[in-house]
Amino acid sequence: MNTLVIRRWASYGFVILLLAGFGSSCAGDQPVPPNPAEFKPDVRPLPPGLATYEAMAIPADNPMTPEKVALGWQLFFDTRLSADGSRSCYSCHLNEHGLTDGLPLAIGALEKKLPRHSPTLWNIGYHKEFYWDGRSGSLEKQGMAAWTGGNMGANKDEITAKINAIPGYRAQFQTVFGGEATPERIMMAVSAYERTIIGGQSAYDRWKAGDESAVSGSVKRGYQVFKDSKCDQCHAGVLFTDLQYHNVGIGMDKPEPDVGRAKVTNKPEETGAFKTPTLRDVARSAPYFHDGSGATLQEVVDLMVGGGKPNQWLDKKNLQKVNLKPEQKQELLEFLRSLTIETSLGEPALPQ
Ligand code: HEC
Ligand code: HEC
Repeated sequence: MNTLVIRRWASYGFVILLLAGFGSSCAGDQPVPPNPAEFKPDVRPLPPGLATYEAMAIPADNPMTPEKVALGWQLFFDTRLSADGSRSCYSCHLNEHGLTDGLPLAIGALEKKLPRHSPTLWNIGYHKEFYWDGRSGSLEKQGMAAWTGGNMGANKDEITAKINAIPGYRAQFQTVFGGEATPERIMMAVSAYERTIIGGQSAYDRWKAGDESAVSGSVKRGYQVFKDSKCDQCHAGVLFTDLQYHNVGIGMDKPEPDVGRAKVTNKPEETGAFKTPTLRDVARSAPYFHDGSGATLQEVVDLMVGGGKPNQWLDKKNLQKVNLKPEQKQELLEFLRSLTIETSLGEPALPQ
């Protein structure tokens, strides 16, 4: 695939500084101007990537620019994109819920009930396939589906016409794309913004970068428990996901289980397999699992430590029951809490 690439950045301290600048600390300090035609978008420098991860692949036909990211940021937060004006993308990917929505199953525009739980978007630009079952091949395609499907219920031509009627948006589309908004350009901008949703700053990361005082002794022991229990077989590396699909048994006891990955690949052995979720910000993103059936972090960890839920397709190769003492389970939980992300998405001012 023909891709451009964001350079890897050497200094971790630099990462934290820039990300803090990109996060909520600057949000809201720009008043909405009285004259709509005078809207000045809040354009910020592109944030660097995750210091210790491979470079992010950027589609060659949708390069990143600060102006495009600023435009996508506004669109991501704008409820005018949905059929009934009730929801933006952000409505289901909220800061206070670790970029999920706090519901077991998401509810779309026009109160449409959706079949799955809203996943976090931290570091989503590093993923190669999207959704719990990986059925979408790019952020651009995924965004279009969320926008025009049940999540936002949008008639894309109608909404695009509305966007073009807003002077502040019109001017920005002209600057970024040299013409007016089209449905594809709207999703290109939103996707460019999503590639800046980088979460690489937590107590755990500060510890890994050399600050021994960043976490407690029990977090450090909990990290060892995590590795000894082979959780990192699937929740691997800096992203805490291998980006692969596994059956750990969730929902398999329902009368008509969600077959997950098997529907995409037609491979029976992938029945009930779902993309390993990242564990970054996991303490904030309850409830858990693709069907929202895990109510608390403690309950979910108990289930995983117990080797998942037995069923015909359980991934026993990678997931094995481990026997942990109560204090080891506590330490494991402490470790997971140390992955809480210390910045948040800032809210942009929107053109009126
Ligand atoms: C009504 C709630 C809701 C809204 C609004 C919403 N999403 Fe989501 N989002 C979800 C749910 C639920 C899923 C998982 C669906 C699945 O896996 O089948 C998801 C999945 C995603 C994913 C894939 C994550 C992954 O791990 O693969 C991305 C990216 C995403 N949404 C971005 C967006 C964007 C961009 C918008 C706006 C255009 C948006 N979402 C609007 C609920 C929502
Ligand atoms: C075989 C791969 C695999 C192993 C090993 C594994 N997990 Fe998971 N984990 C998954 C998958 C896949 C899911 C999502 C399942 C679903 O939604 O159907 C998940 C979900 C989770 C969740 C919920 C996250 C969320 O956002 O919904 C937590 C927490 C978790 N695992 C912790 C652990 C811990 C702790 C261990 C080690 C004891 C572990 N996992 C071992 C694959 C694995």
